Amino acid sequence: MSTAESIEVQASAPSNQTGYRSFTLGGFSFSRDEYFARVSWMAKGQQMSHSMSADAFLRAMMRDVAWGFFYGWVNFDPVIGTRNHYGTVDMYAGSYYPAYRDSGLDHMENFDSRLMMATFKAILDDWTNEGFDPFAAPEEAGDGWHGKKNGHNRAAIERAREACHRMPGLPGDASLRSDANGFPINRAFADVPQDAPEVYAEPGFEAEVSAFNLFAFLSRSDVTWNPSVTSVCGRSLACPTTEEYILPIKHGNDRVEWFVQLSDQIEWEIEDKHTGSPRAKVLMKAGDVAAMPADIRHQGFARKRSMLLVWENATPNLPELYESGQLKPWPVEF
Ligand code: PHB
Ligand code: FE
Repeated sequence: MSTAESIEVQASAPSNQTGYRSFTLGGFSFSRDEYFARVSWMAKGQQMSHSMSADAFLRAMMRDVAWGFFYGWVNFDPVIGTRNHYGTVDMYAGSYYPAYRDSGLDHMENFDSRLMMATFKAILDDWTNEGFDPFAAPEEAGDGWHGKKNGHNRAAIERAREACHRMPGLPGDASLRSDANGFPINRAFADVPQDAPEVYAEPGFEAEVSAFNLFAFLSRSDVTWNPSVTSVCGRSLACPTTEEYILPIKHGNDRVEWFVQLSDQIEWEIEDKHTGSPRAKVLMKAGDVAAMPADIRHQGFARKRSMLLVWENATPNLPELYESGQLKPWPVEF
């Protein structure tokens, strides 16, 4: 099975028993059955393997693919994950889990991002059945994740991240969602006012001045835990998102990021980035602002769908500045 140019995804024929394909990426192999996704690798001459519930695996894989491996580490769970080097990506099993790493039973390999992306997309495509949307909250995701292979859900997994080309609302930008382009108000945000700001531009500036109701925009998001790049100002990216249930990954930051809790609340579990040992629990309520340090991994829990603004700094050399200690892992010293 091959995709673009010289990128060869290593895939088996569909299994006679379950209908799912197995995949190989370097020394890692990936397989799924009715309930579980399994990643295997060799360490100290033995075959190691690690299983995750297939729904949790697909929710994590969906984010890693949609975010282009994101900033830093995307831990699918405490054992397996990826680290972005922006051009190449590490895949690891146990390397940030002391019990594996300290006994030499972990495995890490670096891949060209294009090969890893093509492989992950092929896995996501093959293992996501009709009737399961790995981007959606459990109430809306459908129950089709378990059982033998049953069709596809390409409309869900090929949704692109919403990126603005200009400020939302200005001509040439397609990202401002409204009734007109088919996104209904989510059940959890039925009480969010939908009124729009009134803008009176000087004649001649109509195409350059805009304002929109961010709460109304977010109330129509059909995905969860998927920050959209909604404004770009230099290297500063405002990435609001709607959150319900559990962030499907434990994100290991390679830079400081700021959270502004816009509505409702999220509970964050903060762990050491390298060992996973607990560092803090943070309950963010509407109006709270937090800086998430560059040396942590974190996972959010939201009982009710909530709105969160993730403020990212896309300065290219930040990971090196933090790794080398030139920048402290926190933004402010009190
Ligand atoms: C994060 O890891 O910082 C993160 C990722 C996705 C979200 C929110 C926060 O939806
Ligand atoms: Fe993060």
